[in-house]
Amino acid sequence: MTCAIRAEELRKTFRVRETASGLGGTLRSLLRPRYREVHALAGVSFALEPGEMVGFIGPNGAGKSTTIKILSGILVPDGGTCTVGGLVPWERRVEHVARLGVVFGQRTQLWWDLPVTESFDLLADIYRLDRARAARRRQELVGRLDLGPLLDVPVRQLSLGQRMRCELAAALLHEPGLLFLDEPTIGLDAPAKLAIREFLRSLNREQGVTVILTTHDLDDVEALCRRLVVIHHGRLLFDGDLDGLRARVTSERRLTVDLDGDLDPARLPGVTVVAREGRRLVLAFDPATVSAPELIARLAALAPVRDLTVEAPPIEEIVAGFYRGLDP
Ligand SMILES: Nc1ncnc2c1ncn2[C@@H]1O[C@H](COP(=O)(O)OP(=O)(O)O)[C@@H](O)[C@H]1O
Ligand SMILES: [Mg+2]
Repeated sequence: MTCAIRAEELRKTFRVRETASGLGGTLRSLLRPRYREVHALAGVSFALEPGEMVGFIGPNGAGKSTTIKILSGILVPDGGTCTVGGLVPWERRVEHVARLGVVFGQRTQLWWDLPVTESFDLLADIYRLDRARAARRRQELVGRLDLGPLLDVPVRQLSLGQRMRCELAAALLHEPGLLFLDEPTIGLDAPAKLAIREFLRSLNREQGVTVILTTHDLDDVEALCRRLVVIHHGRLLFDGDLDGLRARVTSERRLTVDLDGDLDPARLPGVTVVAREGRRLVLAFDPATVSAPELIARLAALAPVRDLTVEAPPIEEIVAGFYRGLDP
């Protein structure tokens, strides 16, 4: 069972103590502390259908973690409201937590000095899980996340990638229909990231778990999420698919071509050279002024072509371009 999420005009302001520099400043701020308000969320609204997997992205300090904490019931907003499956998270914590798994990439829900398997036992007790059912579920997760060799290892001895796989299992032992992930791939190497991505994909597609993924890693988002939400300065600035975001930033396309001879790109009107490496050339063009087939035909007439691809610019550039457009 999984549930819809509705967030309406969520607001959260933190009061942060100012720290002054120098001895005089330190004394002054001890005697008369000054506070500054940080508007972490300045009115964020969105809705998620059951079974969606949505990527939350935005620069550091944008308000992503604050949003996840409110949806988890850990923080209470100062304004606005939200419901998850019809319940307000911070008002109905016990019922809410039973339906929800949360993983914070920079925190652990495992017991540092205990072997992984004992953490799982403790969590099963905390959630008061039915023994037989919990054993089946654990076995399934151990299989899917390849945790067999890790079960007797104390958590502090695990690599970050190993630990993150255990964190995912821990968050899912009680079979929640919702999973919130806050930077789950932070600091992981490429194979560890791929393993986690593969797992999340099957969790969402095969088991229908609703997933909110906040990440800095845009490759995670591109690989997993049809929908992405961009948060910046506590506001929701974009909600749609990657093509929609791309269209906001640029219509540019990239032609990568491997040539068997030399070519002077100046002989191709309407293109700019993005990169040149030996006989590989990356050209940017706007399909509104030059059509791809036309460009390819001209190119082939000038030099023998071995291979070519036409693509949109990579997601990092699109998102960087989107952010740049926000802060003129
Ligand atoms: N507990 C807190 N106390 C004070 N300020 C906070 C606290 N949590 C977050 N903030 C501030 O709120 C803003 C949003 O933070 P956060 O939601 O963690 O952003 P993100 O996860 O997108 O990087 C930042 O300016 C951050 O410094
Ligand atoms: Mg964060």
